[in-house]
Amino acid sequence: MKDRIYTSELSGKVGETVVLAGWVDVRRDQGKMVFFDLRDMKGIIQCIVLPMHTDAITIAKEIRPEWVLRLEGKVNKRPEKNINPNIPSGDVELEVTAIQVLNKSETPPFELNTDTMQVGEDIRMKYKYLDLRSERMQKNIRMRDKIITFFREYMHQNDFIEIETPMMTKGTPEGSREYVIPSRLSPGNFYVLPQSPQQFKQLSMVAGFEKYFQIARCMRDEDTRGDRQPEFTQLDYELSFVEQEDVISYTEAMYIAMVQTLYPEKKIQQIPFPRITYAESMEKYGNDKPDMRVNKEDPNELAFCWIVDFPMFEKDDEGGVQAVHHPFTSVKVEDAELLDTAPLQARANAYDIVLNGYELGGGSIRIHQREMQNKIFQLLGLSQEAIEARFGHMLQAFEYGAPPHGGCAQGIDRIVMLLQNEPNIREVIAFPKTGEGKDLMMGSPSEVSEKQLRELNIQIRK
Ligand code: AMO
Repeated sequence: MKDRIYTSELSGKVGETVVLAGWVDVRRDQGKMVFFDLRDMKGIIQCIVLPMHTDAITIAKEIRPEWVLRLEGKVNKRPEKNINPNIPSGDVELEVTAIQVLNKSETPPFELNTDTMQVGEDIRMKYKYLDLRSERMQKNIRMRDKIITFFREYMHQNDFIEIETPMMTKGTPEGSREYVIPSRLSPGNFYVLPQSPQQFKQLSMVAGFEKYFQIARCMRDEDTRGDRQPEFTQLDYELSFVEQEDVISYTEAMYIAMVQTLYPEKKIQQIPFPRITYAESMEKYGNDKPDMRVNKEDPNELAFCWIVDFPMFEKDDEGGVQAVHHPFTSVKVEDAELLDTAPLQARANAYDIVLNGYELGGGSIRIHQREMQNKIFQLLGLSQEAIEARFGHMLQAFEYGAPPHGGCAQGIDRIVMLLQNEPNIREVIAFPKTGEGKDLMMGSPSEVSEKQLRELNIQIRK
């Protein structure tokens, strides 16, 4: 729009005529004058329409919240007592001389100029594009972008490169149920959506990139909770020629720099972050994600800690064993012999980072040798045939000069939730899903046509 400027730019333009565009926030009629607030992506500005601007005042009397307007007007200084120091351009107002209605709006199903947290969640989900107009949601989504941008730049400054890995792939065992996509060209066969880029990032190490990262979308078909969504985002990274200490200290420095840059008002309780063994944490706190805050009421307190020395394996529901982290995690050198005698007692080179009682991220130093990887699969109860079918590509890659490597993945949604002091990750995801995994706005999941099913060779069981 020609000449359009933002509400935040008005402070320095007293006496000038400007063009603004945005949404009507609230409107107040006062006798012959009309007052309203105009909102754009940078903030809000008080607008006044005087009766002498006859065309403008006629339209101003019609306008309602959420109408979209183009305004022309003169920037005036606000009377001293009306100055709002808390908002950009809080010291000025716009004397509107012309209004063009770009679009009208129905009355929104809930008020947008208050905290929509009080509104029923289903209705917020259904009208997500309105919910997102509220100040708190705008802030959350904009801070999310800042946090992701910070991580991306930090990674690049440290020689990491971002590599996109496939969304249509084969299962990678992160311990959850997988989403599957039927293949039209290979009837009866399926792709699987990644639970994480785990195998591809390890294969990127075999490929010689040495430092990989990705802002990675992950999909897990698990029950949704406050800190879990079926689709979520990881800051995923992997490095070659590293030991556990390297990954931990890199990650820790990155978190400290991020908090200091983007949340200077917050204080990290203890630096370096305390490290607790899994055994100690279970004994002392009864869980592996202890909340170490001294004052849990203080919204600016950040208590990070590391949990280390996780066991390699745990018993599963069917009496077998499963990997605590995932099957690509290496065993601690001093516990290697336990793999043959008492595997459940063997400890892994695996670590989690915890913040205020939430698991933020986790990683491990990986296996990079074929024999050891095969042995772990066997201990997990896989037949040689199943190992070849599911993980033959990893075993093969390890035969071609795989370097020692390790990495970590941080849950972006949880990071933003905790830093923004939100009670659940749905508040920091633009288009989240309900507890039942539904998108109430789009109406997904939904049925597909008979024709599509036929093409995919799929028949729905009654
Ligand atoms: P892990 O499974 O521990 O490790 O996941 C890493 C981090 O991702 C976040 N996370 C989730 N966030 C929202 N909703 C979910 N459903 C969800 N599931 C996990 C958590 C968690 O700490 N490939 C390994 C990492 C590695 O070994 O490098 C992995 O995915 O914050």
